[in-house]
Amino acid sequence: MPDKTQLEGEVYHPSAEVVAQAHIKDWEAIAEHARNDLQGFWAECADELEWYQKWDKVLDDSNKPFFKWFVGGKVNIVHNCIDRHLKTWRKNKLALIWESEDGKEHRTFSYYAMNREVTRMANIIKSMGVQKGDRVTIYLPRIPEIVFAMLACAKIGAVHSVVFAGFSTDALQGRIEDSQSRLVITCDGSFVNGKVIELKRTVDEALKRCPSVENVIVIKRVGHDVPVDPLRDHWYHALSALPVANGKCPTEMMDAEDPLYILYTSGSTGKPKAILHTHGGYMVGTYATLKYVFDLKDDDRWWCAADPGWVTGHSYIVYGPMLNGATSFMFEGGPAYPYPNRWWQCVERYGITVFYTAPTAIRGLMRFGEAWPNKHDLSSLRLLGTVGEPINPEAWRWYHRVIGKSRCPIMDTWWQTETGMFMITPTPVVALKPGSGTRPFFGQEAEVVNENGDPVPDGEEGYLVLKHPWPAMLRTIYGDPDRYVKQYWSKYPGRYLTGDSAKRDKDGYFWIIGRVDDVINVSGHRLGTAEIESALVSHPAVAEAAAIGLPHEIKGTGIHCFCLLRAGHAPSESLAEELRQHVAQHISPIARPETVKFVDKLPKTRSGKIMRRVLKARALGMPEGDISTLEE
Ligand code: WT7
Repeated sequence: MPDKTQLEGEVYHPSAEVVAQAHIKDWEAIAEHARNDLQGFWAECADELEWYQKWDKVLDDSNKPFFKWFVGGKVNIVHNCIDRHLKTWRKNKLALIWESEDGKEHRTFSYYAMNREVTRMANIIKSMGVQKGDRVTIYLPRIPEIVFAMLACAKIGAVHSVVFAGFSTDALQGRIEDSQSRLVITCDGSFVNGKVIELKRTVDEALKRCPSVENVIVIKRVGHDVPVDPLRDHWYHALSALPVANGKCPTEMMDAEDPLYILYTSGSTGKPKAILHTHGGYMVGTYATLKYVFDLKDDDRWWCAADPGWVTGHSYIVYGPMLNGATSFMFEGGPAYPYPNRWWQCVERYGITVFYTAPTAIRGLMRFGEAWPNKHDLSSLRLLGTVGEPINPEAWRWYHRVIGKSRCPIMDTWWQTETGMFMITPTPVVALKPGSGTRPFFGQEAEVVNENGDPVPDGEEGYLVLKHPWPAMLRTIYGDPDRYVKQYWSKYPGRYLTGDSAKRDKDGYFWIIGRVDDVINVSGHRLGTAEIESALVSHPAVAEAAAIGLPHEIKGTGIHCFCLLRAGHAPSESLAEELRQHVAQHISPIARPETVKFVDKLPKTRSGKIMRRVLKARALGMPEGDISTLEE
């Protein structure tokens, strides 16, 4: 690292107080060690956890890019999230604190209680005939039961597939069908900004086309009447009263490389990819990154304000915190309901010390002004974090000054569903630059390269690639190993293609610019242009459609669509509105386009591919770039 006094640009050095208490004593020394002995570094991290049987080999790269980690090791991530803590004083420590959206319900679970809840759910899942390796779809909002359900699956060796509860029927149906789940765990409904979203009805609709599902477990959350199919659907509270639910349940011994979960994410084709993570490597990666980056200690109260339905929640609400024996807070609601002080009220009420959210939330809250956070005592906070999209420096400064009172360093963590863990990230001991994730985590090197794979000069934009395997890396795309190879390892063999563009500055700091594939990042949520387009084309009025992302003040990027109508349909305001609604209904309200415009023609290549780049340039009034392949 260059002498810290010589870093270029706007730089924030960590205070002596922060440095003094950090797990990391000497960043350079650990980085150097991991650079020289990648396997040794990760083995030391793995050694801090318990294994039923030690691994024979840390990294097996004999069949690239199908890397294997901790080969021969026997473990179960739940053993380290729960069982291990029950043998220590931590059995009495709070694992989870939860507050309802309306603030009227509070539930807390010690590690001991967490074990009871997870064991009960595991017994119930088992009693439905679910076996090791079977897939279970979980479609639940931010309530403690989503944590129980995920851990219960892992405990018995079933593979969970969580579908974010904000997804609609088609998205849910596609994910259930692709995973061939035998069981769905859901609830009657969820509360979103004071309204009830009928989740069970969405499940019923989706299951009309999912023959693999034998059983549905329904948790009562909102207390609405919902249709119940007596052969297929079971109330969780009724099952909980049965003797079968209340015995002990052994934690299944798994191979380190056995699948833990799949999680769908958007790619550049219409079909979302099922990213597969494992028990061993994912456990080690999420444990170590959370420990080092957010510097968790036993007296911390950690709050990751994401949803368990995304990878952020998987790694840093559920697994990472519990692997660290931490106390984690989960809030059912959003930041601004009923008022924009809701989150800060929770920080004060629960004494949150480390807080992690997305830039879109910060931008959204900034809009309401400083008075809202200033109503609350935020002095418990010591570290902050962001994830999901580049953070603009104004939002960074606001977060730093107004929330962190200029005392709390901000960990801008760059990573992906595929990486499972933080990849380019600050730690509390490094100097920060607003908008940069600083440098890769220990054991990783990143590069910014051109089309041919050659590194571009510092300060120039290029494709971001990663040079080394890491333990929490995806192992494959479930059911489609060829796509795994093609998508991530073919453009530059030997290097992992992130799909992002970035710049590196002369201090070696990375600045993420955004996706370079056909993925739109709306408020930190990944949506494929192809998914949006196919939802539009499924409407009877639409013949062809193109979706692009354009800058949006709060969401980072907003979706804008161009539609060519079928004969007999005329453009109108009401049709545009209907199409926006149609996309929200089929994919998710997150995917609702900002605008739908009607066109006579879409710019295409001679081979018929829509040139979204040209649409985007036109919309922004910028030069159209190389249009030599344009068909017109
Ligand atoms: C994409 C991955 C990993 C959790 C959330 C999203 C973008 C993520 C940052 C960041 C700039 C970021 C990238 C990445 N992204 N974190 N700190 N700075 N961009 O997971 O849905 O798999 O999306 O989110 O474009 O490729 P995901």
